[in-house]
Amino acid sequence: MNIVTCIAPVNIAVIKYWGKRNEDLILPLNDSISATLNMDQMRATTTVMASPNFTEDKIWLNGKEEAFLTNPRLLNCVREIKVIAKQNSSAEENKMLDWHIHICSENNFPTAAGLASSAAGYACLVYALAQLYGVKGDLSTVARQGSGSACRSIYGGFVQWHRGMEGDTEEARGSFAEQLVNESHWPELRIVILVVNDVKKKTSSAIGMKRSTETSELLRHRIQISVPRRIEAMKKAIREKDFETFAEVTMKDSNQLHAVCLDTYPPAVYMNDVSHSIVELVHAYNSYLGKTEVAYTFDAGPNACLFLMEKNVSDMLSLINYAFPHSNGEGYFRGIPITTRPLPEDIHSSLNVKPHRADLLKYIIQTKLGPGPRQIEEHLLNSSGEPI
Ligand code: DP6
Repeated sequence: MNIVTCIAPVNIAVIKYWGKRNEDLILPLNDSISATLNMDQMRATTTVMASPNFTEDKIWLNGKEEAFLTNPRLLNCVREIKVIAKQNSSAEENKMLDWHIHICSENNFPTAAGLASSAAGYACLVYALAQLYGVKGDLSTVARQGSGSACRSIYGGFVQWHRGMEGDTEEARGSFAEQLVNESHWPELRIVILVVNDVKKKTSSAIGMKRSTETSELLRHRIQISVPRRIEAMKKAIREKDFETFAEVTMKDSNQLHAVCLDTYPPAVYMNDVSHSIVELVHAYNSYLGKTEVAYTFDAGPNACLFLMEKNVSDMLSLINYAFPHSNGEGYFRGIPITTRPLPEDIHSSLNVKPHRADLLKYIIQTKLGPGPRQIEEHLLNSSGEPI
């Protein structure tokens, strides 16, 4: 077949990747760990097609044609997959390697929402190209060269991205992603994404982390001391399904990432007032329960990602609804259906929660852990290689 379509998941880091030691190869300063989200709710879909009739390489992203030859990350991924394919593919597949390709990719969630769209996108592209050219084995080292965090979307469940060593070859460097546990390991775990209404244009994570690498002293402490300890604690907490430790390490690591961003010069500010109110609400709720039952984490944007057990979703979202009223009807709650219920009488007063002004949140998605990428049958390109 000269056409392949795949879907790939989003991932959310609980130990963050922030900073590169090699910009071109995307080699990170530290190990990171993430949760792969279920593709029923959020996914990238990518069709790749090779044909002797194509006169140039082309790519369409979310319905718009984009430049191919001036996108080094895209070129790196295509080149790397072809190098591996040449080493071990059949004669039939080898013939395809000389043909031009058309790529069409879309996300089923707004790219602008700042929800790790490049991770799902590059994982999907690399996985689809690998199916097209018959490439087997680990694809995370190729996906990494599209976007660092994309290497973790190659696997389901919880995934660790190893920083690797200094070395001249890809094997020697050994910066790859590895599944820690699969998606069925912790079935009660839920992930709730609070998409914050925000208009401010943010510094991209690539620029932000470059600036942190150059200027932040706190980042050095993070790399040398905090992350190595947290990686071990996090792996143990995940293995043992110890939610309290998992939650505490997740929140501390997110807070440290944003502290590093403020320690960056000039500072990179990603969280806003709504993000900080969500942090406060989560801590207030946990102290009301006398136990850590909810964790938050924030990436290079104001959206909150909450981790909690299924049994707490209803109460937590009732509280969110009270604190962040909304006028959006349909489409406000997305993903796994959410039922809110009246909260115990004393909760608002003992938490000292007051409703904020309406519509600070755009929408809320409930999801859970999910598997890695897979092939599907419905293509985004027609038989002449044009978007459908
Ligand atoms: C804050 O993977 O987007 O989401 O490698 O430059 O493409 P590049 O960066 P990217 O950075 C993600 C940073 C983060 C933390 C994380 O996902 O680990």
